[in-house]
Amino acid sequence: MKKRIAVLAGDGIGPEIVAEAMKVLKAVAAKCGHEFIFDERLAGGAAYDATGDCLPQDTLSACKKADAVLLGAVGGPKWDGLPAQMRPEKRALLTLRKELGLFANLRPAIVWEPLKKASPLRGDIVGERLDILVVRELTGGVYFGEHSISADGLSAKDVMAYSVREIERISKVAFEAARKRRGLVTSVDKANVLATSRLWRETVERVHRESFGDVALEHMYVDNAAMQLLRVPGRFDTILTENMFGDILSDEASQITGSIGMLPSASVGDGGFGMYEPIHGSAPDIAGEGIANPLATILSAAMMLRMSFAMASEADMIEVAVGRALKGGARTADIGGEISTAAMGDAVAESI
Ligand code: IPM
Ligand code: MG
Repeated sequence: MKKRIAVLAGDGIGPEIVAEAMKVLKAVAAKCGHEFIFDERLAGGAAYDATGDCLPQDTLSACKKADAVLLGAVGGPKWDGLPAQMRPEKRALLTLRKELGLFANLRPAIVWEPLKKASPLRGDIVGERLDILVVRELTGGVYFGEHSISADGLSAKDVMAYSVREIERISKVAFEAARKRRGLVTSVDKANVLATSRLWRETVERVHRESFGDVALEHMYVDNAAMQLLRVPGRFDTILTENMFGDILSDEASQITGSIGMLPSASVGDGGFGMYEPIHGSAPDIAGEGIANPLATILSAAMMLRMSFAMASEADMIEVAVGRALKGGARTADIGGEISTAAMGDAVAESI
């Protein structure tokens, strides 16, 4: 099969980790007779430095023409002083999510057997198996409401809004995912305080009643969810939540697995198109040192194969290769070792 992948390496460690994911994808293509065309484009601060815009028009068009997008990370201290609308996070990342209609963000947090000791939680808390899927709403809520600071600079506001349609479509994604997993959706909100959360809860319940009676549903306040994730993480299967809560809880879930450097993500919309990126940021503190963990990006590439290209066995191949590399002792600094980003990529690619 021939597939076109828009590649946005971005900033900081972005280019280093994306290079390793491309290495692994090339190994898969060679092994399975596919052709992946990598259309590399500028995004984030790198694009701003070159063109004055963190998301140049040709980058956006290239993404729209591609079968999927592979993204590293954007942002860094160098661009923190830009006006809010022009910053890499807002102009590149949030605009891409919105423009490409990627309302569902899937973030699996899995404890890999060889990495059990890397979790900061006690072994008896992590338990035998930890496999949580955070389904985060990605194009609504406070991220996309009005943001403003008053003329006198003495007050500010960020509007959090949700429509029934937005809640319905993300709920369906979560229920459908849970159906293929252990069949439990925990919908996380703050319905004791927020109106958006009350609409959220009501809508999730209706969608559940109408079409997903075979899946179990429970509701949990976000503060309690943050606590239960550390107390009994194994009780969770699929967590369904709004944009900002999902941002926070997915970082928390990543730590249970040992390192944020292990967590991939898929951002998808209605069709098969998607954008795949690690959940971590551009890590400017270690950029250029060749020590970043590329596994989150490599695992994101696996999600791309499975979800956008319907290449399930190829995706499995990457995940098995990652497991083998870890079992063989390959460890970057964040998971307690000292091999380089490229050596980790090699370990996975060779195992393909
Ligand atoms: C993430 C990131 C982004 C977000 C930032 C960089 C805007 O933290 O993908 O989780 O908050 O969505
Ligand atoms: Mg985040």
